[in-house]
Amino acid sequence: MGDIATVTGLVKRFGDLAAVDGVDFAIREGEVFGLLGPNGAGKTTIISMMSCLIPPTEGDIFIDGASVRKQAIAVKSVLGVVPQEIALYPTLSARENLAFWGRMYGLGGKTLSSAVDEALELAGLADRAKERLEKYSGGMKRRINIAAGILHKPKVLLMDEPTVGIDPQSRNHILETVKDLNAQGMTVLYTSHYMEEVEFLCDRVAIVDHGKIIAQGTLAELRRVVGDADVVRIGVDDAFADETLDAIRALEGVEKAERADSTLEILAADGGAVLADIVSALTAAGEKVHSAEVVEPNLESVFLHLTGKSLRD
Ligand SMILES: Nc1ncnc2c1ncn2[C@@H]1O[C@H](COP(=O)(O)OP(=O)(O)O)[C@@H](O)[C@H]1O
Ligand SMILES: [Mg+2]
Repeated sequence: MGDIATVTGLVKRFGDLAAVDGVDFAIREGEVFGLLGPNGAGKTTIISMMSCLIPPTEGDIFIDGASVRKQAIAVKSVLGVVPQEIALYPTLSARENLAFWGRMYGLGGKTLSSAVDEALELAGLADRAKERLEKYSGGMKRRINIAAGILHKPKVLLMDEPTVGIDPQSRNHILETVKDLNAQGMTVLYTSHYMEEVEFLCDRVAIVDHGKIIAQGTLAELRRVVGDADVVRIGVDDAFADETLDAIRALEGVEKAERADSTLEILAADGGAVLADIVSALTAAGEKVHSAEVVEPNLESVFLHLTGKSLRD
């Protein structure tokens, strides 16, 4: 399949800050493409330029052949956007909110009401369609927000961290919805700082940090970035003292070590060989070890390998 979106030489400066600093990637028609990066990496700024909300400082983006600089109307007609901030009216019902958005997209009459029905079904909220949005949980609001983004059956859907801060049930529902939409032929750009979501959903991924793409490719290609290194994962207390990390980093055979919440991620050429030394060092420092395992590298390991820091920092 060909590329449905291409981003070339994209830069966005806010004063002295290059929030997006020379980004190139292409999204193939029919795929789920992931933008994975920590908070502040530039994901929302990229989405805002793709959806014509803010102009690029340099570079351009083509979506379905149209330039965001010169053909914003054509770009918007093929795009659905699910923004990070929820754009709904609390005092209107779910159905009324969706009908409002549908009219914004130029739908009316029977086309509008069937689009709203379909979207409610997809959000799994058809039975609660008449309730005011203010009664909905955060997760249900997000699901309606997604429904609003796909009413007009866009070719390309841009989703900006749609699962941040919601309950696990709504999160799973959203992930399954993305899979369904993609199976029906929709191309999706999915941004997240959760590597599990990106691994679950995406065909290809670009990892962003400080406004730059530091690696991109299929999941298999990205895992190879880590090379032959093993990942040692250790479960520790939340109260883990960060000075202990330096002791781990100083161990022979340890390439990198980082902590995300109560998990230590350690890269080592031979995980099995250093595991005992790591556990001894932790015990000597008075740290509790809840679990210890040598695992396959994942996107978190790739990020750690490339930046020396954890995605969740
Ligand atoms: N309108 C703005 N004015 C100034 N700085 C901004 C603006 N929008 C974003 N930034 C900065 O640009 C960087 C990237 O932000 P953002 O794109 O929101 O990152 P992400 O979505 O990956 O968390 C951050 O340092 C952020 O503070
Ligand atoms: Mg963001």
